[in-house]
Amino acid sequence: MASFLKEISFHGILLDNLFNTSSERKIHLKELLQKGLDNGLIKPLTRTVFSKDQIEEAFRYMGAGKHIGKVIIKILDEKNLHDISIPALPQYYCLKDRSYVILGGLGGFGLELADWLVLRGARNLILTSRSGFKNGYQRMRVNLWRSYGARVVIVSGKDAADHKDCAEILKAAINLAPIDAIFNLAVVLKDGLWENQTSSQFVESFKPKAWSTKNLDDLSRKICPHLRHFVIFSSVSCGRGNAGQTNYGMSNSVMERICEKRVADGFPALAIQWGAIGDVGLVADMQDNNEELIIGGTLQQKISSCLRELNHLLTQESPIVGSMVVADKKVGGLNSLNVVDTVLNIMNVKDLKAISHHTSLAELGMDSIMAVEIKQTLEREFDMFLTAQDIRSLNFAKLLEMNSQNMAQKKNNASNAGDEIITGMKLLIRLLGEEVMHMETCLKLQTKEETGRHEVFLIPGIEGCGSIFSNFVGNIKSPATCLQLDNTRTDYLSIENMANELLPHVLTGNKGRRDFVIAGYSFGSLVAIELARKLEARGLMGRLILIDGAPDLMKAIKDQQLAASSNEELESNVLVGIMDMVVPTLSGPLQQCTSWQEKLDKFMARMPIESLAISAEHQRNVCTAIYKRLIALENYDVSNLPPLRSTILLLKPSMPTVRSVRYDYGLSRITREKVEVHTIEGNHVTILDNMKIAIAINGEPLEDAEAFKASIMEDGKILTPITEPRYNRS
Ligand SMILES: NC(=O)c1ccc[n+]([C@@H]2O[C@H](COP(=O)([O-])OP(=O)(O)OC[C@H]3O[C@@H](n4cnc5c(N)ncnc54)[C@H](OP(=O)(O)O)[C@@H]3O)[C@@H](O)[C@H]2O)c1
Repeated sequence: MASFLKEISFHGILLDNLFNTSSERKIHLKELLQKGLDNGLIKPLTRTVFSKDQIEEAFRYMGAGKHIGKVIIKILDEKNLHDISIPALPQYYCLKDRSYVILGGLGGFGLELADWLVLRGARNLILTSRSGFKNGYQRMRVNLWRSYGARVVIVSGKDAADHKDCAEILKAAINLAPIDAIFNLAVVLKDGLWENQTSSQFVESFKPKAWSTKNLDDLSRKICPHLRHFVIFSSVSCGRGNAGQTNYGMSNSVMERICEKRVADGFPALAIQWGAIGDVGLVADMQDNNEELIIGGTLQQKISSCLRELNHLLTQESPIVGSMVVADKKVGGLNSLNVVDTVLNIMNVKDLKAISHHTSLAELGMDSIMAVEIKQTLEREFDMFLTAQDIRSLNFAKLLEMNSQNMAQKKNNASNAGDEIITGMKLLIRLLGEEVMHMETCLKLQTKEETGRHEVFLIPGIEGCGSIFSNFVGNIKSPATCLQLDNTRTDYLSIENMANELLPHVLTGNKGRRDFVIAGYSFGSLVAIELARKLEARGLMGRLILIDGAPDLMKAIKDQQLAASSNEELESNVLVGIMDMVVPTLSGPLQQCTSWQEKLDKFMARMPIESLAISAEHQRNVCTAIYKRLIALENYDVSNLPPLRSTILLLKPSMPTVRSVRYDYGLSRITREKVEVHTIEGNHVTILDNMKIAIAINGEPLEDAEAFKASIMEDGKILTPITEPRYNRS
């Protein structure tokens, strides 16, 4: 009450009364407010502002109850309100005047999916089943949706694997409304070990999946012009393989290939590889005493979680996706076995003592299927990657040695846990030193040159220097030149300018040839893409190998790892990031400085000169060049550039670099040709230590499962001669 004693009067204003007042009054009030704001009489309330990626911190701060005034999340920069896109999470909604077809809709997952669609607005459902209602629960769910106003048609006795029946199912849907989405969830399991499988079991398994999907694809292309979604439910048994499910795995795989083809032809398609599912469906039906099952290395994912993921999966663009809860790897591998026991099990050998340790597995009776199973199990359970040649020469002496190495490695990994996560500038820069190597644009690389092979060109990452390639260049079979980025240039160069500067070197090094091979790493991939564009404009055609680099990926790294709302903030982040790499104890804020030069001076003053094997001037230049290249990355927009005609091979690390980028890093949007994607062990930095990069540059095939199988087999038989199989498989 003390305030009243100062002769201050307070007026309460009921803002809602103003809604119905006259326009003149509202305009008058607005003018009063504006005047007050302009002359500083009306002051903003005390506030604490958090950026839009600090929502958790903001809520924690407010939850602590110690703040004064308002807690605000800043969504946009008020000085730059134009041309800004705001990230949003897309949601999947159904259309009331369209219909939704679910093959196998009365199954465990089918009923949940139908419910989910109805809750998202679907009002016309067609569920197929071989026999119709089997229990009261199915009937109850259908009646419930009808009570919401949904029209539900159960089509039974029609087999979508039959072209005519499939057409009738789709026509039944079109009679309700044009079809918006088709989901194929139908499944028949005919499991059995390979040697017990029959062709009729394959047929049974193929009918609801492969063949029905083929018909759905064919017919929907013709009679469903409004189709937005064509979704098939596949399985981890297809993606990773599962013993005893060859027919199921293959029929899922056929559906996935159909989806890929549809997308390539411009039609909607999505294949979801689910792991084991909990609560409902075929795996839940197998559960005894509520005991959780592990199938194909996955734990049961709750159906509520599957449906949450479905929203996300339906609103992204990749044709083949997966959702699963990966079970922890057992300490010793499969069912706590070690490497040796695992192989003994696969080969059905009971006692290690009964066999010669130096006899090859092939001579011990390993057939091609066992070889593939051994290879896949060692990869999956023990992270051991063996070539076909390795498997052919494998024996138990070697396996015992590998087992002890594996144990030692595990111990080592346990003590170094967490070392591998790299963030910030460390992701972008592998090397800051090497002044001497930096002087020339063309750095000749020491390769294992073979006669008849032509020059290949490598473009390094943002630090611009070629020595980052040193670990694998010795395995390249062609003469190779690294096109270094000029670190003495401190003026701004766009990506296109950089490519322009390198172009004459490629034309000279190519010696008039009409083809080219260019490999770019990280930031260098962008320059490689531009260079390819310029070479194509001169009539050359070639191959691009991009080592964890692409415009979308590099922008995502910059946005996620060096998040800055202005160039000034980016300047500070770059220098603090570099300082953090070199002398972490010294990094600190540079925000008070107003220009790049001022920040750089402060940075150089703090940086002990001996910390890098390069001169102070070179340090300044490198930092400036890196900063300018980040700006060039920001300004690089491929959306209006003509698509390339060169093929692209993208080599991705097994440890993803950033979140939410497409599987091919969006590269299929920048070339008319094929984008091949291969995953290589490592992260964005350690990928450069992998010899597979040299194999890719050599144009040799990177081994995949098919190639592996083909290389160990001849006319269906394993290459190493087998005398007498000494052990029978059960
Ligand atoms: N559950 C899991 O853990 C899991 C894991 C990975 C992938 N998936 C995939 O998810 C999908 C759904 O599985 P779910 O667990 O719901 O299986 P589910 O409970 O066995 O349901 C599948 C339904 O397919 C129907 N069906 C079989 N042949 C058919 C045909 N020719 N035409 C129409 N319907 C047919 C069956 O119903 P009728 O007897 O009434 O015909 C069956 O109820 C399947 O594609 C499966 O491969 C499931």
